[in-house]
Amino acid sequence: MGFDLVLFGATGDLAWRKLMPALFQAFRHGSLPEGGRILCVGRDDLGDERYRALIHSRFENVELSKRPSAEEFARFASLLHYLRMDLSRPADYQRLADALAERDAATVVMYLATAPSLFTTVCEQIAAVGLNGPRTRVVLEKPLGHDLASNQAINAALRSVLREEQVFRIDHYLGKPSVQNLLALRFGNALFEPLWRRETIANIQITIAEELGVESRGAFYDQTGALRDMVQNHALQLLCAIGMEPPINAGSQAIRDEKLKVLQSLKPWTAETLGQHVVRGQYRAGTAQGQPAPGYLQEKGVDPGSRTETFVALRTEICNWRWAGVPFYIRTGKRLAGRDARIVVNFRPVPHPIFRCALSDANRLVINLQPKDGLELHLLAQDAAQRAEPALAPAHLNLDFDQRFGAQRVGAYERLLLDVIAGRLNLFVRSDEQEQAWRWVEPILQHWRSESRGPHGYAAGSWGPAAASALIARDGFCWSEEV
Ligand code: BG6
Repeated sequence: MGFDLVLFGATGDLAWRKLMPALFQAFRHGSLPEGGRILCVGRDDLGDERYRALIHSRFENVELSKRPSAEEFARFASLLHYLRMDLSRPADYQRLADALAERDAATVVMYLATAPSLFTTVCEQIAAVGLNGPRTRVVLEKPLGHDLASNQAINAALRSVLREEQVFRIDHYLGKPSVQNLLALRFGNALFEPLWRRETIANIQITIAEELGVESRGAFYDQTGALRDMVQNHALQLLCAIGMEPPINAGSQAIRDEKLKVLQSLKPWTAETLGQHVVRGQYRAGTAQGQPAPGYLQEKGVDPGSRTETFVALRTEICNWRWAGVPFYIRTGKRLAGRDARIVVNFRPVPHPIFRCALSDANRLVINLQPKDGLELHLLAQDAAQRAEPALAPAHLNLDFDQRFGAQRVGAYERLLLDVIAGRLNLFVRSDEQEQAWRWVEPILQHWRSESRGPHGYAAGSWGPAAASALIARDGFCWSEEV
């Protein structure tokens, strides 16, 4: 009967900010399957009513159109039940097993919105009370480890009690409609495929820029840094989507097999490329949204002598027949000039220019992921305003997916939660993919540890350190905002 969703960490930040609002949206739109129950697990001594009241108060921070009316909340709240557990006490898992046995739901989803240090313990304990049977699915939030060895250890612990198909590793970027749309664009249209290769493409740039700093997460972030926080997962997943071969079908195995091949084809690092093709930065004081903003070292929870990077830019290649020699640039950072995630595909210029054209750039496809969701195709056209001599001028085709599909599309966490309940693995990361991504970033981490110089400083509110522009300029290119 229905599903039971066990939410470990139900009083934590992720549950308040993302999971409860997403579950409510799914409930409001009637997409949560019938007969569901949400068992909210926390350490605090709260009963159902107090927990529901807390959730209700948190909805006041949600944007108005996504807030429940009193009547809607009452119906939603009837799904929520609170279970107090100390996750380090084996006896408490027996109480969980008893609570689940009351209903014997067809699907049991265990969502671990907890500190990663608890992942292994929770999985072992649910297995110890027999809750790892085929109806169970376990959802894990990143970070899954802080390097290859720790990631492999977590995956080995998971494998000892669960089958791979029962494990749903979240990379919330895969839940974003704009990111799912990458595969739709590439493999739902015949138009791009003939152009999607080294003969026509000069370089590809993946940017995930954030305007915010580390906010209240200074202590966590200082142990993590941008490479682990953004590149190892979100940026590499975007690289896979843009670089992968067409899968044989839209099933999770076929898609994940192709993404794995991209990760396996990334150019191995050498001492020379580690020195020249990777730039790390750290923000200094500057501005954010027109206001003065402190530097990273002044943020709460951050070690004042920290060398943790808040910015990474790097150049890599996918070493296969399609992409050999085409540079892929990845860039991500906090406290940059704006919130902007986009992929820019720069095409090669015409082989023999017959028109006068002072423009250094040629055709460009800009895939805006957020905050805008759309596609721009940059072309050159006859400059009809020129009187002296015929010339070319840039002109854009602009497709706005928010306008086309409405801004009320299914949010990332709502999509991912619904997929877990339905057992769809497409948008979750398989262990071999994740390990391969760690394997590839590991030499960068080692190189940084051995380097005497720390990250380059950059002013808050800028596009990152000058060294990032120098990195791309060495190939004769520039970042898309510098065009
Ligand atoms: C998270 C990172 O995975 O992604 C955060 O831990 C980052 O540091 C966030 O801010 C960005 O997500 P989004 O959806 O706001 O682009």
